[in-house]
Amino acid sequence: MKFIAKTFHGLETILAQEITNLGANNIQILKRAVSFEGDQRLMYAANYLLRTATRILKPIYSFTARSERQLYHKISSYNWSMHFDNDKTFAIHSVLNSPYFNHSQYVSFKTKDAIVDQFRKKTGRRPSVDTQNPDIVFNVHVYNDEFTISLDSTGDSLHKRGYRDVGHLAPLNEVLAAGMILLSGWDKEQTLLDPMCGTGTILFEAAMIGTQTPSGFYKKEKYTFTNWKDYDDDLFQEIKKNADQKIDTTSLNLVGGDIAPAAVNMVLNSIDALGFEHLIQVSRIPFKRNLPTTDNGILIANPPYGERLKIKNISTFYKEIGDTLKQNFSGWDAWILSSNLEALKNVGLRPSKKITLFNAALECKFQKFSMYQGSKKTKKESL
Ligand SMILES: C[S@@+](CC[C@H](N)C(=O)[O-])C[C@H]1O[C@@H](n2cnc3c(N)ncnc32)[C@H](O)[C@@H]1O
Repeated sequence: MKFIAKTFHGLETILAQEITNLGANNIQILKRAVSFEGDQRLMYAANYLLRTATRILKPIYSFTARSERQLYHKISSYNWSMHFDNDKTFAIHSVLNSPYFNHSQYVSFKTKDAIVDQFRKKTGRRPSVDTQNPDIVFNVHVYNDEFTISLDSTGDSLHKRGYRDVGHLAPLNEVLAAGMILLSGWDKEQTLLDPMCGTGTILFEAAMIGTQTPSGFYKKEKYTFTNWKDYDDDLFQEIKKNADQKIDTTSLNLVGGDIAPAAVNMVLNSIDALGFEHLIQVSRIPFKRNLPTTDNGILIANPPYGERLKIKNISTFYKEIGDTLKQNFSGWDAWILSSNLEALKNVGLRPSKKITLFNAALECKFQKFSMYQGSKKTKKESL
């Protein structure tokens, strides 16, 4: 069976690596997605374990259509009762890139009408649409006149890990944070420091990775594949049990800091609720005073960009970040994510890697600064 794991721009390679580790075949990197082949077991495992996928789709029906009439006809000629009965609710999500169809909502409506009409004709009853909490979700992908309809095996996006409640705040997306950690090459024996940790997403994702806790371990919502006709609960429970047995919470050296007391308190509360006290230490401290406790390690920071969070003088702030790295972090690898390219220049160090990532709609650079011993003195390192 073919599957498509969706992700964010820049995380495709790291997702392909994760999927390889699961034992999938014929893995191909696509735009913001990775396709692969495997069985039902692999699809369940992909949902429960992948850290850098947002959802897993299973393509079921492809056709071409250039008009509303053709679309209705093609949808009507497929047997939808293979996948669900009219006692289940359903929803349709469409993504378009086509000169023939302009509105994704319109395509969703037409598809829904054709499916509902088929059920009504056959059984006299129709399944209901539920956009909030549907049992079955179809994904309609349209490129030019090519339609691919997939069953969405996930439902609520996989970034909803369920390990904490951040209220109204807008933390980094968990999938993005996990991707940043995996891209950084952090090894769980190393110290990982997030000196501007906010709600602690990078720290919590590192704790999940470092302890081999499945990404779905704390998930509250059901995966939609559990509503499918072929759902095998014994198989899913076995996959969960095998994965959960590998969790090792012995020790990690994860360190967080933030200048805002509210952020630090929130992280402390989540640490407490999860019993992660021996894995993550967090304190209220401005970055320039945050001295490393080990000779080397990985620093990952998502500083304010000057967009959502205003800082009086963003250039001076980024210069201060660079000065602190030079003065206090020799021997460390520092990774900084920011959408503010002008401000990033003020760090005053030459990045050894630059990766384009998106933080929601904001195009960002994730830059690596290798702080060799004595780099504060070497002219070569300075821009
Ligand atoms: C973009 S937010 C980080 C969000 C975080 N990655 C999350 O997932 O919630 C930036 C954080 O930097 C903190 N901050 C700003 N200036 C700081 C400084 N000088 N030292 C330490 N933290 C600082 C802010 O309080 C804020 O929580």
